[in-house]
Amino acid sequence: MPANHPDRAKKRILVLHGPNLNLLGRREPQVYGRATLAGIDAALEALAAALGAELRILQSNHEGALIDALHQAIDWADGVLINPGAYTHTSVALRDAIAAVGLPVVEVHLSNVHAREPFRRRSLLAPVCAGQISGFGQHSYTLGLRALLELLAEK
Ligand code: DQA
Repeated sequence: MPANHPDRAKKRILVLHGPNLNLLGRREPQVYGRATLAGIDAALEALAAALGAELRILQSNHEGALIDALHQAIDWADGVLINPGAYTHTSVALRDAIAAVGLPVVEVHLSNVHAREPFRRRSLLAPVCAGQISGFGQHSYTLGLRALLELLAEK
């Protein structure tokens, strides 16, 4: 059945974690908290199961790998949840990939990027995303997944 067939009950969500997020739990815990990436993924899987969604999850420290995953999502996913890490503030290529695939994308950040250094206030990706959730620690991810699924339910 095609990815966008109306009879397919489960929404398919690609979850992308960008650079340095593999170190969550020990990376600047005063900024990013103590939750590990495995813990965040487990919380997302539990929520997805409860809400009837299917996830594919990838973490990469490489811009091109994130872009490849977005391209591969075209024929599979209904939407994308992404924490682009520092690529948020630098990557025209990631922005172009999001615009190119045409899927609804929710951008999430653990920290409140607007309350930090000025260079973090600008997201190159936000204008091509459906929305941004920032500042709720690990809960930014589950809030983001809920928001994306609400959005998809309206379509
Ligand atoms: C981040 C915020 C970015 O500015 C930073 O480069 C990250 C993590 C966050 O989740 O708060 O790597 O995306």
